[in-house]
Amino acid sequence: MTKEEKYAGLMPQVRGVCEGEEDLIAKMANVCALLHREFGFWWTGFYRVKPHPLPLSFQERGVDSADSPSLERRGGQGGEAGLVLGPFQGPLACVHIGYGKGVCGTAWKERRTVVVPDVEQFPGHIACSSESRSEIVVPVFEGEEVVAVLDIDSRELATFDEVDARWLEQVAACLATR
Ligand code: SME
Repeated sequence: MTKEEKYAGLMPQVRGVCEGEEDLIAKMANVCALLHREFGFWWTGFYRVKPHPLPLSFQERGVDSADSPSLERRGGQGGEAGLVLGPFQGPLACVHIGYGKGVCGTAWKERRTVVVPDVEQFPGHIACSSESRSEIVVPVFEGEEVVAVLDIDSRELATFDEVDARWLEQVAACLATR
């Protein structure tokens, strides 16, 4: 079976675990289980965008988060927001990744899928596992905002290409609730 066929076969299940479910973490958990099992990747999981707490000045004025700058802008400007480990399958991984750092932080900052055929050639790559050789990271959008990234690692070089990017972007789109 080609990977195109594998993705095509998996999409109904991805839609099935996402449709009608509002809890993003529950959807992430099932989606990474489906992908990991179907493809046998080395590591499959999500990092969520976690904003830093509102500055005290905002809190004192009783401004709630709906009125505050967007999570991404706060991450971009203050550098204090970050990615935090979410549901995953595979070996233990690093918990926090900064805005623009590593492959994950780059996909978040640049709001685009990043395909890395050889992690040793990616400046700033964060090596959670010395066995990882290639990687793909796909942003998950809620409306215009990046709320998470889907990160997949392989123990082989050049596992991921435009085919994976296109299908995984469809997977990420299933997770969105708006
Ligand atoms: N390699 C990633 C870090 C996460 S682990 O691969 C699970 C990066 O450079 O952002």
